[in-house]
This record gives sequence, C-alpha cells and structure tokens, in this order.
Amino acid sequence: MLQKVKGTKDYFFKEQELFDYIASVAKNVSELYSYSHCSTPIFEFSQLFSRVLGDSSDVVNKEMYSFLDRNNESLTLRPEFTASICRAFISNSMYQEVPLRLFSYGPLFRYEQPQTGRMRQFHQINYEVVGVRNPLVDSELIKIFAMIVRALGLEDKVCLEINSLGCQESRTKYRNALVSFLQDHKENLSEDSKVRLEKNPIRILDSKSEQDKKIIVDAPLLFEYLSSESMDYFNLVLEDLDRFDVKYNINKKLVRGLDYYCDTVFEFTTDLLGAQNAVGGGGRYDNLIGSLGGKPTPAMGFAAGMERLMLLVKEPPVTKNLVAIIPIGNNLNNARILAEELRENNIAVYLEPQEAAPGKRMKKADKFEASHAIFLGEDEIGSGKIKLRNMKNGSEKLISKEEFYNEFRRKSQ
Ligand code: HAM
Repeated sequence: MLQKVKGTKDYFFKEQELFDYIASVAKNVSELYSYSHCSTPIFEFSQLFSRVLGDSSDVVNKEMYSFLDRNNESLTLRPEFTASICRAFISNSMYQEVPLRLFSYGPLFRYEQPQTGRMRQFHQINYEVVGVRNPLVDSELIKIFAMIVRALGLEDKVCLEINSLGCQESRTKYRNALVSFLQDHKENLSEDSKVRLEKNPIRILDSKSEQDKKIIVDAPLLFEYLSSESMDYFNLVLEDLDRFDVKYNINKKLVRGLDYYCDTVFEFTTDLLGAQNAVGGGGRYDNLIGSLGGKPTPAMGFAAGMERLMLLVKEPPVTKNLVAIIPIGNNLNNARILAEELRENNIAVYLEPQEAAPGKRMKKADKFEASHAIFLGEDEIGSGKIKLRNMKNGSEKLISKEEFYNEFRRKSQ
C-alpha cells in the first residue's frame, strides 16, 4: 500500500473548505490592516535557520528537514516564515520600503513527534511588521490576532498570554542569576538542559521535560530583571490593549521556543488541544535583521497554526450559493447550455456533463451542499421559466429567468 509520510495530511471536501475558510479570514483581516501578501521560497540555505533560530533551539537541533542538493549545498525546508522574511528583506534590500506590513500563509516543516495539533508538515498564517519599534505596533499585531480569533468564533476557547523578555541588558543580568540558580540543580536537569545550561540557559525555561519543569518552578523570573525602558515599553503595550478592551494574562514565565525575541512576547493558548496549547504566538525581534548582516531594523510579528485553528473551529460555515441543474428527460445539452450561461453570470453550478438519472443527480447535489436545484424538463423549456427548489426547506417555485438572476445577484452581494 502507498503510504503518506508520517505527520502529513491530505485535505479533501469539508477539511479543505475549512482550511480555505481560515486562510480567507486571515487574508481578509490582513487587508483590513493594510498588509501586503508576500511569498518566499519553501527552502533556504540551512545556515539561515541555524543562525536565526539559535543553535540551542529544539527546532534547529532536532526538527529541521535538511538535505544536500545535487550541488552539495545544505538546504532546509522552512520551519517558520520569520527567518525567510528577514532574509528576503535583506537580500532584496528593502530598507526604503519600511514600515513594511507583510502577510503570508503556507506550509512549514518540523520533524516532531506527531500528535493532535502537531504535524511534520503544518501551515501557518503569519504577520510581520518590519522597520518600526513602537508599542502601538505590538498592540496592533495582538489586536489582529484577537480579530482573527473573534472572526472564527473562538473568543471563549482561546486566551492571550503576554510577557516581556526585556532588552539585551536585562537578559544578560537575568542570565547570570538563572545560571547560578540552575547550577545548584544541575545534577537533576535533563541531558538536553545540561547542554543548554552552557549554550543558552534561558531556553531551559521552555523545556518540555517533567524533571526540568519541577526545577524551573522556583527559578528566578526574567520579568523581575527588566530595565526601566523595557518595563515602560511593556506598560505602553498593555495600556493600549486596555484601551481597545483586549483581554490578556501577564504570564511572567512565557519565554517562547525561539531565540530571537526581545521585549514583547505573546501566545494565544487553549486548553482544548491537550499538550499543544499554543494556537499561535509571536513577539518583537529588534536585533534579528542586524544579526543576519542587514542594517539594524526593528521588527515584530506572530504566526498561528492553521491546523490548530481548524481543530478548534471544526466546521466551515455554510455560505455556499451553489445551484445544481437537474435535467429531466432528454435535456442534458440544454442543461449544459444553461449551466454555462449561469457561470458566465458568476453563479456557481454543479452539473455532471455525462448522462445520469435525476435521482442520482439529486443525491450528488446534496453531497456538494447545493443551496438550490433547477429542474429542466420539456415544460420549463417550453415556458421559458425556471423551476427552482430550495434544497434546505424543499420549497419549489416557478420563476422567470430575470427573477432568478435578481434573486441570485442579491445573494452574492
Ligand atoms: P511558533 O511558536 O514556533 O512561532 O509557531 C507558531 C504556531 O505555529 C504555534 O503556536 C502553533 O500553532 C503552530 N505550530 C508550530 N509547530 C507546529 C507543528 N509541528 N504542527 C502544527 N502546528 C504547529 C513561529 O513560528 C514564529 N515564526 C512566529 C513569529 C512570527 N514570531 C515573529 N513573527
């Protein structure tokens, strides 16, 4: 039997509709906030991701899909958008374009143990603002996420957690305090965290290991080491969220799994997806573009997992306006002519172009969730009228073509 690769998924019918619905809500919200849609390649030189995500992140150490191409270049399937977007910003020298608001969506690849909501090929909707450091940009990005959550009807299922990781200076001070705390517990740390203690101790706070979690509970908090500039900045973000009535929890333990963040970080979490509690998250990354060799350029963004949103939304809304044409008797070609005419008028039509019994056609029309059916027999052709059935309530009426178009034009407005 041909198998699909572990952690990947095929989408058909309802699931694909749900996927497309989430993408369209995300794109629509991006347009409301004047974002431009951008696309970058699905693979990049491997070095990009190890530089951006940090040698001590799980994504780089365990999860990258890397391979040598025929020219012996090490390439990696993108595990996230942010690195690619920063690379594209630098390689296309887009400094004159700032502030840039960029929206993307598409597939990403991480070699993780598949579980509900955790895939090896998954999809994100991703928003980045490049070129501005301003707390109002941070709160606007969070509001975008909140608007998506509302548009998808998930207000009661998802909550916002927010924290500040402060500036470099705050983190250096904190790092020393954390290392001295962790040194006392080194023996009991997981093997991964013993390595992280040397390379990037703050990453230990994000460890999934139960033995690490027990130790971390009592660790000092980065929040307590924030500089006054970072604290003021964070307060301005919160103040603006209050102004727009966006509800949040300050979670002083939130550090996020990637290395590039500074100051504001946030996640939208749920308790409905087991271990995969983050529906999306992001934060500010003011030093990333500079550290990749670009001119120092502040930026902030977030991404949400489309599969996790799909698990929460469950069903796409039924908004279809699909008309099934059911030819009666020897009228298939007349039905095909009518179908083309309706399509020219921007009305979606379901009609199998091969012979089939009306009963069979009705069953298919139901399966495709046609909102209406047109029966086309000798009588209708003779009278020039349309026999229209509402598939939801079963009511039928005989109307002129003009009345039909009027009704459908109204529906599609
Ligand atoms: P992330 O937290 O690694 O952030 O991923 C964002 C979201 O992608 C997660 O909250 C989750 O919903 C989804 N996700 C991640 N891994 C998987 C997986 N294996 N299967 C299914 N869904 C997954 C980033 O990727 C950052 N680049 C976000 C960002 C943008 N920060 C600034 N700008």
